[in-house]
Amino acid sequence: MTLTLNDPIFLGSLKLRNRLIMAPLQQYKGTPEALPTGHHIKHYKRRAGHVGLVILESTAISSSGRLWKNDIGIFTEPHVEQLRKITEAIHEHHTPVFIQLSHGGRKSSPEVTHSLVAPSAIAFDEHYGTPESLSLAGIKNIIEEYRLAARRSIEAGFDGIEVHAAHGFLIHQFSSPLSNLRTDCYGGDSENRSRFLKEVLTTIRSEVGHDYPVMIRISATDYCQGGLTAEEWAKMLKPLESMLDAIHVSTGGLLPIKPSEVYAAYQLPYAAVIKQHLNIPIIAVGKIHTRSLANRIIEDQLADCIAIGSPFLENPDFAEGLLVN
Ligand SMILES: Cc1cc2nc3c(=O)[nH]c(=O)nc-3n(C[C@H](O)[C@H](O)[C@H](O)COP(=O)(O)O)c2cc1C
Repeated sequence: MTLTLNDPIFLGSLKLRNRLIMAPLQQYKGTPEALPTGHHIKHYKRRAGHVGLVILESTAISSSGRLWKNDIGIFTEPHVEQLRKITEAIHEHHTPVFIQLSHGGRKSSPEVTHSLVAPSAIAFDEHYGTPESLSLAGIKNIIEEYRLAARRSIEAGFDGIEVHAAHGFLIHQFSSPLSNLRTDCYGGDSENRSRFLKEVLTTIRSEVGHDYPVMIRISATDYCQGGLTAEEWAKMLKPLESMLDAIHVSTGGLLPIKPSEVYAAYQLPYAAVIKQHLNIPIIAVGKIHTRSLANRIIEDQLADCIAIGSPFLENPDFAEGLLVN
């Protein structure tokens, strides 16, 4: 049987009605306190109708890890109450919704973060400035913030969690040898560089249990010699596979370097490498905007699901045109 975008799939215990996923898209419309507003409720409700899964925009686990001055967060009870209104609105369409949990590390917004932290004291660029290298106690604190964020994600009605380990934010910074020069147990070889991620996942799992869907978004290349590759990510993720229900494969963001060319399915080769090494669903993303391309990728088993981002900004009904009725 040939699989298509229209076919259901399980992410762990959760059955998606099709394989089309709305990718996380920051709305830049949170309040100064990182609370979502009526805009978010309307925006997500309007787009949730046909996709198999919605992934909410990056949501900060703490006030000091916000990615933007107008992003949203999940670090107090009022955040939970506001986020619950979004999950309820999406659920009216019988569509599941994951939260994307993030901490910016050295790429936390300088406008709202007073002391940037990172695995090592290396600046992303002049705008962000030089972060402080995290102490062991500081690492423990952030892992605890992930625990609370996971607990609150369930309280807010999310059906699963996407751990944001892509685009140069904190977990990515720990994972890449270009941003992690530590000499303790969190730096050095790939096992040590993935220790922070492992502890985040272990902590989230201890909070949500084995059956609650948890996946990860990675950047499978740093677009720089000596940076992370899809092969190294596969090696780091293999021992963590039992804690994960899917892997969402993006690229870049660790350094101020952009891919030289952005063409249809330009990130797919990285997803395909990860898929060769792991046995959980792989989500491909990046300019996969036609039904024929999406179906071909699934049929050829290069990835299991397709996430789509920017087209949803302009056209809330984009998914309808892609799926066969
Ligand atoms: C306006 C905008 C906001 C985005 N916000 C996020 C985000 O919050 N988290 C994330 O992981 N990716 C974010 N992305 C990346 C998208 O999820 C997606 O990977 C990217 O747009 C490529 O997919 P596309 O070619 O279908 O747009 C954002 C992209 C855009 C254009």
